[in-house]
Amino acid sequence: MNGDESPEQPQETGTDARIPTHIMGLDSILEGGVPKDYIVLICGHAGTMKSTVGYSIIYNGCKKDGLRSIYLTLEQSKQSILDHVEKLGMPSQGLDDLVVVDLARVRKDITVDKTKPQNVDWLKSIVGVLKNYKEKFGCECLVMDSLAALYALTTFKNPRGELFHFFEQIRDLGVTTFLISEMPTDREVYGLYGIEDFLSDGIIHLKVEQTSGGANLYLGVVKMRKTHHTREFMPLIYENGRFEVVRQ
Ligand SMILES: Nc1ncnc2c1ncn2[C@@H]1O[C@H](COP(=O)(O)OP(=O)(O)OP(=O)(O)O)[C@@H](O)[C@H]1O
Ligand SMILES: [Mg+2]
Repeated sequence: MNGDESPEQPQETGTDARIPTHIMGLDSILEGGVPKDYIVLICGHAGTMKSTVGYSIIYNGCKKDGLRSIYLTLEQSKQSILDHVEKLGMPSQGLDDLVVVDLARVRKDITVDKTKPQNVDWLKSIVGVLKNYKEKFGCECLVMDSLAALYALTTFKNPRGELFHFFEQIRDLGVTTFLISEMPTDREVYGLYGIEDFLSDGIIHLKVEQTSGGANLYLGVVKMRKTHHTREFMPLIYENGRFEVVRQ
């Protein structure tokens, strides 16, 4: 199938409106895509292409469906992300509806008490910055890269309670959100605090498996509310600027 002739079109209206991932083969598994306004974890160990998958979803959503989107990178600088995705065939030139915001930008956007920078409530501040972007820019999709980087900025007193509140505030934004989550290597949980999985509406798991010929990347949909989907792990291939899952 020609990648640009995907039958996986967004459903425009109604309670079952979906945001296509434009990962070839995945949207038909997801009944058209990710349900609109859901919070979905994109998780995996280091180097499993989490950032690239997240970016490609909003890049293609912007190019093909005209969805205004924000890529919030708390890990890499804006330039580093843009260089990476350009190298992989997703140039940002002319894509005015996709805004990349990095931590340096967020620091400028929030009022930081420079004498006591450690007092910044990052969870609250980031929600405030996103609300602002949504009002001014009208964003429909968001990638936040990554939860681990957000946690590194935050001193939690009550992680479960504070994360519950944070997810609720993100949900209230009314933006389809992809949260990049690096999985701990010592436990089979999808986020550092072990609660991110039930706070999310969906989980897309990326993993590398070693074979005699090298290391292959697989994608599995572990959870997607309101969707009847397979749980099989499928080879994930990246070629010519597009991801594809292959059902075996
Ligand atoms: N066509 C390809 N197929 C598979 N892997 C690739 C391909 N091109 C590049 N890579 C690998 O993808 C990795 C980077 O992807 P990306 O930054 O999206 O991963 P990540 O999971 O976000 O990593 P990190 O844990 O460092 O944040 C590189 O380390 C590179 O080895
Ligand atoms: Mg990354």
